[in-house]
Amino acid sequence: MSISSQNYFDVYSTTDDLKLFSLLSTNIHTRCIYIGVKDGLFLQIESGVEDLNILAKNLGFNTERLHRLLKNFEHLNLVKEKNENQYELTSSGKKLLPNTKGSFAHLALLWGEEFQEVTNHLHEILKSEKSGFECAYKENVYSYLESNLKMAENFNLAMRGVSEYCSEDVLHEIDLNSANKIADIGGGSGANLRAFITNNSHLNGILFDQKSVIDKAIEEMETFQHKNRVELIAGDFFKPFSFKVDVIILSKIIHNWDDERAVQILTNCRNALNDNGKIYLIEWTLEHEREPLTARTMDINMMIATCGKVRSFKEFGKLFDNAGLKFSQAKNISNKIGLIEVTTM
Ligand SMILES: C[S@@+](CC[C@H](N)C(=O)[O-])C[C@H]1O[C@@H](n2cnc3c(N)ncnc32)[C@H](O)[C@@H]1O
Repeated sequence: MSISSQNYFDVYSTTDDLKLFSLLSTNIHTRCIYIGVKDGLFLQIESGVEDLNILAKNLGFNTERLHRLLKNFEHLNLVKEKNENQYELTSSGKKLLPNTKGSFAHLALLWGEEFQEVTNHLHEILKSEKSGFECAYKENVYSYLESNLKMAENFNLAMRGVSEYCSEDVLHEIDLNSANKIADIGGGSGANLRAFITNNSHLNGILFDQKSVIDKAIEEMETFQHKNRVELIAGDFFKPFSFKVDVIILSKIIHNWDDERAVQILTNCRNALNDNGKIYLIEWTLEHEREPLTARTMDINMMIATCGKVRSFKEFGKLFDNAGLKFSQAKNISNKIGLIEVTTM
């Protein structure tokens, strides 16, 4: 019997045992990818250093071991050996380049560093109501980020990459024709808001986030061609907002918090809406048929990192009731994330 060599993803069409074996080894691949990003291997290949020997010399890696790492990356469909010992990135490999639209490079760093340490506390997390950050660093993720600026920068870039990856399709689903003013609450680097403002020439926007995030976003906003239509406000979304808008975006916010804190944020958002205003939640949801592929993984990620959770529509409905809001409609966008429209009662 002869079996030809295949790539890693072929495992998904094979036996359950092989799938399980492969699942158990994903941390090995995660670590390899982390090193490929951290040490700049993917970046070097993209910048034209394609030869194994030169790559090994530039990175200070053992040539034979780098060869094995690259062969594994080929198996993972991240690089392709185009000539003997000469490599190029595949389109998946290009997703691991920093500073590109929808990049996963910073997510690879985030999940390979502090989040890895935090995940090691899973046992303690399961036996308590604490997040992994509280177990590992005695504070919640966002207060930790306020005093760890290097990680905060990476976190914001990781969120931006995920947002750019998910939100391109979401943007076209939100009808902003009758809105004059929009606020992106907890809007991070402002990638979503910039896209909304660019695509809607009549629209003005507010980017609202914690001070350290806004300080960074101000620098980025400087080069945005429609910056005159954007206001940046630093503050705390657990306190009442000082502005009124027609549309509020909450992108990947509510899943970070327990029910009580989530209702507090939603109530403050409702109070900041003009008449007939709407809130759009961009969230993973746990709902048969409308459950994006990565929703369950993100639910565990939230349990580990933040004490938050990914919710079902029923659970969201309860939050909306308690915040004086009404569920209007929801969609699964391209199997990546969900979009929920909410109005006032
Ligand atoms: C998971 S990130 C989502 C970022 C962005 N909305 C996106 O979709 O990429 C959560 C955001 O909430 C912000 N945040 C956390 N606590 C906050 C608070 N108390 N007040 C304002 N923003 C806060 C964080 O700084 C971060 O930018």
